[in-house]
Parts: sequence; C-alpha cells; structure tokens
Amino acid sequence: MADSLSPRTRALLDEIEQLKAERNAAVLAHYYVAPEVQRAADHVGDSFALAKLAVELPQTTLVICGVEFMGESMKLLNPGKTVILPEPGADCPMAHMVLRETVEQARERYGSDLAVACYVNSTAEIKSWSDVCVTSSNAVAIVRALPQRHVLFIPDEHLGAYVAEQVPEKHVILNQGCCPFHANIPAREVARLKAAHPDALVLAHPECAADVLALADVIGSTAEIIAAAEQSDAPEFVVVTMDGVRAELARRTEGTGKRFLFPEQARCPEMDKITLEKLVSALRQAPLPGENDAAAAGAPDAAPGAADAPDAVRGFVRGVSVDAPLVAPAKRTLERMLQMARR
Ligand code: 13P
Ligand code: SF4
Repeated sequence: MADSLSPRTRALLDEIEQLKAERNAAVLAHYYVAPEVQRAADHVGDSFALAKLAVELPQTTLVICGVEFMGESMKLLNPGKTVILPEPGADCPMAHMVLRETVEQARERYGSDLAVACYVNSTAEIKSWSDVCVTSSNAVAIVRALPQRHVLFIPDEHLGAYVAEQVPEKHVILNQGCCPFHANIPAREVARLKAAHPDALVLAHPECAADVLALADVIGSTAEIIAAAEQSDAPEFVVVTMDGVRAELARRTEGTGKRFLFPEQARCPEMDKITLEKLVSALRQAPLPGENDAAAAGAPDAAPGAADAPDAVRGFVRGVSVDAPLVAPAKRTLERMLQMARR
C-alpha cells in the first residue's frame, strides 16, 4: 500500500502522526474501517482485542475509529481518559435492538437463576440492564461459565442462537435483533461461492444467519477469521463477514498467493463513515497534554449534568458521553467480561 498512496493521503497520514505525538493520543481502529484509516491506527483489532488493549495504553487520549458503542465502551473502561469518535454519527443499528421489557420479563420469570448476557454491540443503557458483556470471540466461553442455567442473550439473535447450539447445557433465551448487514447475506450466495471454489475454506462471522453458518468451516470473530486464514494451508477462502477485513487479510497473507472471496454487498455503511479527514479533524480538537479535556473542546457535547457528577463519564469531543447513572452498572458488565475472559 505504501507506494500506492496519493499525495493527499500521504499528507493526511503525516499530519495524523504529528498530531498523535503532540496530543499524546493513540488511534484504535476496528477491522471494518477503510484500509487507509486502519493504516493511520496504532492498533487494529476486533472488538474484544481493542477493549482489552485500551485499558493498558499509556496515552491520555484514545481515538476510536469504530462505531458509537465502541467509543462508549472505551470511555466506560477508561473514565480518566479523553475518548474521541472521529464520526459520532457512525452507529451500529443492532446496538439498540432490545426492549427493556424483554429483560424485565425474563428477570421476573426466572429470578436469580437468570443471567443477562449482552453482546458488546449494545448501548451503555442496554449494558446497564445486563449482568455481563460478551463479544463474538468469547460469548461461548462466557455463557458456558455463568453459574445461572437460564441466559437471556441480547441483542443479537444469530450470535445468541450460535451460542445456544454450542452450550446445550444452558437454556438460552433469544431476543429479536440482528446486524442487518450480516443477517442479509444469503446462504444461496455462500453456497454458490463454495460450489465455484471447491477448495476454499468458508470462514463466517456468528452474526450471520444459521443457514449461512451451516455452510461454514470456521465460525469466529473478525480476528479469529483472519487468524484462521493466516494459519490454514487452503489456497482460497470464502469470507462471510464485512469486506473491511480484506486489508488485514492481505497484510497477514502477503506473498502466499491466498485468495479471498466475499459475498456482494458485504460492507458496513456505518464503519464506512469514518474517513482520514474526520480523523485529522478529531485529533486537531483533542486536548494537549495537561489541558483539561472539557476546556480544550469547549465541552460542546458533554453529558447533561456530567460536569458535577463525580462518577460521570465526560467524553466530550464529538459527543462520547454516558449518562452518570448508567456508568457504574454498564462498566461492571464490561469489567466482568474482561475478568471472565482472563480465567
Ligand atoms: P468483532 O467482535 O468480530 O470484531 O465484530 C464486531 C462487529 O461489529 C461485527 O459486526
Ligand atoms: Fe454493527 Fe453490523 Fe456494522 Fe458490525 S457490521 S458494526 S454489527 S452494523
């Protein structure tokens, strides 16, 4: 990629490097964002890797090239840091797809023998109703390890159904919610790719529907899909997730001649909203070391009441904010995930 950069892209990347150093900022990007944005990042990863890493970084500002729930999670886990979303309008639709009544009804019915497991693709409010968070790379292990027999899995019905199949000893209750982009990938298209490339290994994300997952050789998170392609000897791969992983697949398999085939329309339009220009603009607004974060950005989007609430999360630049009452319960679900994943 180095040689194919346009002068404008090169200039933007140079400015980003300079701003990162000047503002003591780390840029974290999800595998789904555009390749040039991934290139500007200090760390690229799946949701779990980014959350885990963020708590270990020394920088005082974290710039999250991903969707809103990722920014919220980073702020919850790093309340003392400035967390910036270059595009606060990038929002995962699935993150909102559960009703409070669904959780309340399940709690009423099963009492203390119910755990609410919440996919990290969820708002802070939904996290605050839950007992533990999971990501696609640890959902099976975490649900299996929960002491309760009944598990309400929110918001993704497809990941929930996959977990239910893998952990038959639990009674997994599903919610109606899904990623519209993964759920819309038709099994017939995957079957057609598989028939046209009989030597290909099929790698699928568990947000896909059950009929797609039934065609897969490997089911896993974006990082697990990439690792499987890197480690396998197969010459070709049908990759059933969003096209953004292509950049990391290319990097990790360079020189091997491996080929990657994706279904049509496998793009996340929300992740596509993040551009290098927006990243530059966000970094320009980031506080300088030692500056009060809210003062630096004029606190335009601070959560109402956040300034005087001691436990409040004050993510101000371009709107990362979590209402004070949600902070402690939402943070607890994320921390429980990190703790359970360490066992
Ligand atoms: P990963 O946890 O696999 O990175 O997935 C995040 C996501 O949004 C998938 O659509
Ligand atoms: Fe959300 Fe789907 Fe985009 Fe992942 S791919 S961020 S689940 S909309």
